[in-house]
Amino acid sequence: MESERPAAGLPKPLLRALGGEAVWPPPLWLMRQAGRYLPEYREVRAQAGDFVTLCTTPEMAAEVTLQPIRRFGMDGAILFSDILMVPWAMGQSLRFAEGEGPQLDPVRDAEAMAALDHNLVVQRAAPIFETVRLVRAALDAHAPRVALIGFAGSPFTVACYMVEGHGSRDFAIPRSLAFTEPLLFGKLIRQLVDATTAYLLAQAEAGAEALMLFDSWAGLLPPAQFRRWVIEPTGQIVRAIRKVNATIPIIGFPRLAGPMLAEYAQRTGVQCLGLDTTMELRWAAGAVAPGQALQGNLDPLALVGGGMALEAETRSILGAMRGRPYIFNLGHGIEKVTPPEHVSALVRLVRTG
Ligand code: CP3
Repeated sequence: MESERPAAGLPKPLLRALGGEAVWPPPLWLMRQAGRYLPEYREVRAQAGDFVTLCTTPEMAAEVTLQPIRRFGMDGAILFSDILMVPWAMGQSLRFAEGEGPQLDPVRDAEAMAALDHNLVVQRAAPIFETVRLVRAALDAHAPRVALIGFAGSPFTVACYMVEGHGSRDFAIPRSLAFTEPLLFGKLIRQLVDATTAYLLAQAEAGAEALMLFDSWAGLLPPAQFRRWVIEPTGQIVRAIRKVNATIPIIGFPRLAGPMLAEYAQRTGVQCLGLDTTMELRWAAGAVAPGQALQGNLDPLALVGGGMALEAETRSILGAMRGRPYIFNLGHGIEKVTPPEHVSALVRLVRTG
């Protein structure tokens, strides 16, 4: 499928790249650019007490969204929230225990599923849309070249956490459920398609200028399951968004998709593909349409290490992506041990091409 060019001609470099333009030097932002590696984040995080409170207090969430923009001047600001705020807004209990990651009361049968209400999402997530409004107003006033990115998790990755109840290396419980009870699992995925569509459209209405779908665990699935639980639902979300908002660019990030990236790119209708650290860039450039932007894929550990290796990796990525629509980013979220000076060095490196 030819990608649309919704943002062509707009002045913001990130939106120009998403519109299919080969902007050079490329626009840049970093996944998880707001977070614990920044002392100013840790301060607000401590004030908030718990993570869900941080995500649902618009002034605090807007402040931490803007912190990396002030310090480093990225081209994109990503809404500060979490992919698990959708299950939270559907009524699933969610806690972030110190050092343990997210904990949810697992949803594994029809009864637990019936207790959730995907129609509540837009109402309960109202503080998150207020954060979007605050950030957009601040950018319009002080950083007019910076684009605001809204996001959600993709149905499969969000379902992984909802069914498993916490993080996992292999998410064996949800993946088994998808084989043994496909109707039940499919019902959850359908609820998530509807909830995620409404949630992303509300972010767009509040001022988000691009949307990203994080599918961190897509690569756990064999091809037929990947088509059913990743490509299909993602395509449904993209098409449903398009019916209401014809122009907002959408970035898909099917992490560890490998060769399934080609089919994902063709069939979902996303404008941009987020690439993980394992992806061969020249292969990826051949696997997507020429007008589809690519984003990624520096190893976050190269950024932790800094120095010559960071420089060499960055130059190699820039060399492979020059001349096509491209957005510089990491191949996964920033590590909390990353020295902030290394981020400054990276921004200088990318900006000097
Ligand atoms: O990128 C950004 O700066 C925007 C905010 C953002 C967060 N999480 C903030 C966060 C985004 C886009 C996410 C996405 C997210 N959340 C994903 C997809 C991307 C990926 O990393 O694969 C996933 C799988 C989650 C679920 C999640 N949230 C986990 C597994 C954890 C715990 C791991 C950890 O680092 O502690 C979180 C918590 C979380 N989300 C933090 C942040 C800054 C750390 C919480 C804290 O400050 O205590």
